[in-house]
Amino acid sequence: MVAQLLKAELHCHVEGAASPELVRHVGARHGVDLTGLFDEQGAFAWHDFTSFLNAYDRAAAVFRTPEDYRDLTFTYFSSLAAEGAIYGEVFISSDHALASGLSYRDYVEGLAQGIRDAEAATGIVGRMIATGVRHYGPDRILVAAETVANEPHPLVTGFGVAGDERMHHPRDFADAFRIAGEAGLGLTVHAGEFGGPESVRAALDHLGVTRIGHGVRAIEDADLVRRIVEEGIVLELCPGSNVALGLYPAIADHPYRRLQDAGARVTVSSDDPPYFRSSIGAEYGWLSRDLGLSDAALEQATRTSIEAAFVDEPTRSRLL
Ligand code: ADE
Ligand code: ZN
Repeated sequence: MVAQLLKAELHCHVEGAASPELVRHVGARHGVDLTGLFDEQGAFAWHDFTSFLNAYDRAAAVFRTPEDYRDLTFTYFSSLAAEGAIYGEVFISSDHALASGLSYRDYVEGLAQGIRDAEAATGIVGRMIATGVRHYGPDRILVAAETVANEPHPLVTGFGVAGDERMHHPRDFADAFRIAGEAGLGLTVHAGEFGGPESVRAALDHLGVTRIGHGVRAIEDADLVRRIVEEGIVLELCPGSNVALGLYPAIADHPYRRLQDAGARVTVSSDDPPYFRSSIGAEYGWLSRDLGLSDAALEQATRTSIEAAFVDEPTRSRLL
């Protein structure tokens, strides 16, 4: 029974985890005009990757105080725990904090308070991955890396880059990843979502990452899949997101199982759950129902997530 399985999520954007209800609630707190952000059913309105990113930025902009961010992580991590998750990591973004008029320190402390409160209430363990936004450009990504390196926080344990993969080349972010790596942070980058195998290969060549966000389109190149297997690279697969954004017609067409069967270290996550009508429980359920994954295979995904988590070793041992 999927509902009983222990779960973990490595790939979720904290601003992308805010439900329409929470965005409306916090937006009302600050008198933000949300006209056009929702469709007639009350869900976020978007129709392609670019309009998704725009809706995401508008929704993110309602969060303005440390308390708003505390409510966001508390709600998200509590909902993860309610679906059987024992561990989660969220991508956070100093760019979004600045756009909301908050310092990085206040932003992180607000988010951390929600993570600590959710752990106290449910036992779930959470960490944060500081993230540069690719379509904001290499200079802003460098600032994001310098910020996280200069202002360490015990719950910020990783660095990554998200955003529009069709822009810029990984070599443009190599300095940012070097700075973050030297600061002791775990490294991951979005690649192989809207870019093909060459985008994943370039990320591996230039960025020193141990994990790839998505990476799903590696399946288009057998040599690359072999390299991913040999190097033990962990793929943060997000099937529901890939289907919602039009990469595959349905979960049944998703390469999760083929990547797993090739020997890749696969994990499963929800990416931006309310945008894609997803959740960690839904993702595990879809893999079981539509790809026929066994409970053992799903438990292995959870174990791989914990093995690849950006946490200290005592915490990892406790979770495994
Ligand atoms: N930011 C939030 N969700 C994303 C996704 N699916 N791909 C790239 N950047 C993102
Ligand atoms: Zn993502």
